[in-house]
Amino acid sequence: MDLKSTLKLNDGNEIPLLGFGVFRAAEGEETYQAVIKALDIGYRHLDTAMIYGNEVSVGKALYDSGLKRQEVFVTTKLWNDDVRKGNIRSALEASLARLKLDYIDLYLIHWPADGYVKAYLEMIKLKEEGLIKSIGVSNFHEHHLNDIFKATDVCPAVDQIECHPHLPQHKLIKFCADKGIAVEAWSPLGGQRSQGALINDPLILKIADKYGKSGAQVLIRWQLQRGVIVLPKSVHAQRIEQNAQVFDFSLDSEDLELIETLNNGQRYGSDPETFDF
Ligand SMILES: NC(=O)c1ccc[n+]([C@@H]2O[C@H](COP(=O)([O-])OP(=O)(O)OC[C@H]3O[C@@H](n4cnc5c(N)ncnc54)[C@H](OP(=O)(O)O)[C@@H]3O)[C@@H](O)[C@H]2O)c1
Repeated sequence: MDLKSTLKLNDGNEIPLLGFGVFRAAEGEETYQAVIKALDIGYRHLDTAMIYGNEVSVGKALYDSGLKRQEVFVTTKLWNDDVRKGNIRSALEASLARLKLDYIDLYLIHWPADGYVKAYLEMIKLKEEGLIKSIGVSNFHEHHLNDIFKATDVCPAVDQIECHPHLPQHKLIKFCADKGIAVEAWSPLGGQRSQGALINDPLILKIADKYGKSGAQVLIRWQLQRGVIVLPKSVHAQRIEQNAQVFDFSLDSEDLELIETLNNGQRYGSDPETFDF
């Protein structure tokens, strides 16, 4: 396994297992430099969203990297207001224009906002037109996915969910695996709101020490070993590099069991059942 290792999605497309997240990376220099750095050291999967407000910088960095379009997997997301208003095509076209791309590798419904089934059906058409290669969802629970299954045979390729040792999501991951849906972990390091609770957890640090790695590297490696696509974010060059150095060690079964003991159901982001935005 390395930075370019991929997973085959249920639609036949390949997705790099390690992605680079840009949530809360400021539009302009911050995002531009972070993405340039990530692509330079070998990340081949970028995860942005309309609501992050940084698609322009992501697209510019991708263009300036000199990489061929097909070498980089780009995800962006349909925001809730557009789901509610049914603005699916116009929202996608606006994202494409900001990114300066003619297709998106993976387009996700960001949250299960009212209208998500209709939005999904519309996304199927946009995929058929070639504007999207793969379609998926984010923050969907079993019952949201079941609504999609009732409406169409086209199964989402991906569900992107909050996931880390405090919220390992065993049940939802098993449900997705049974349906052939790949899972992506957001806030794999606990995100900004965890204030380092996971990265600096004494058990995580003890395990990290054993391998000569950092807490962040253990958290990323843990996801890779469970077959979960993982999207760490950083705007600091050293951390961007560190977060990619996760292919030269393997957590043993004892460590995997110890990490399980951290499961306390703690969310650092919003709950898909109660989000209010
Ligand atoms: N679908 C959704 O609803 C959703 C929600 C949230 C996130 N996401 C996606 O998932 C990605 C990751 O989630 P996230 O950004 O919430 O959180 P995360 O990747 O778990 O954590 C990012 C935080 O950890 C810090 N950090 C990164 N690497 C570090 C390291 N090696 N050592 C110490 N600190 C480190 C970052 O700071 P610096 O940047 O200052 O280095 C930042 O504060 C997002 O960027 C986004 O693409 C999706």
